[in-house]
Amino acid sequence: MRSVLILLAGLLVGALAAFSAANALRQRNAWPRGVMAVMQHHLGELRRLQRAGNCQAAATAPHWQRLAQIGADIGPSQPGFAPDYHDQARRFVALAGGYAAAPPADCKALDAPLQQVAEACQNCHRDYR
Ligand code: HEC
Repeated sequence: MRSVLILLAGLLVGALAAFSAANALRQRNAWPRGVMAVMQHHLGELRRLQRAGNCQAAATAPHWQRLAQIGADIGPSQPGFAPDYHDQARRFVALAGGYAAAPPADCKALDAPLQQVAEACQNCHRDYR
């Protein structure tokens, strides 16, 4: 009986430790993951606008701006990552910032920029995610 109780107590302590470790990990990644989630949203909005045929610069510019602004946190949110990671992050900001400054004028012109941005996301994910 006693050994069963000790075993149960051990299991409980182990479960609690695993739970708090998982929680700490989630907390630590909250900023980089939040950065990514917000960028995902704005990329999704650009695609949605294109599908809806609503591609005037006034409609798309805010999303390009957000991608560039939030993109500026990609590097700082992962300070320990390799220099190449930070280079990729800077290139991403330059890419999105260019389209924020001069948004493509119509839906057709949006094709290439959306493609380029998606590739920039994928390249970094392939290397660092
Ligand atoms: C310079 C590198 C880099 C770029 C550029 C980048 N990402 Fe990420 N992304 C990462 C890393 C690293 C992770 C893993 C983060 C973690 O779990 O701590 C990630 C994770 C994610 C996730 C999963 C987040 C989660 O909740 O686990 C999404 C969604 C995402 N990225 C979307 C995007 C989109 C959309 C773009 C382009 C608009 C993009 N990323 C550009 C590095 C990058």
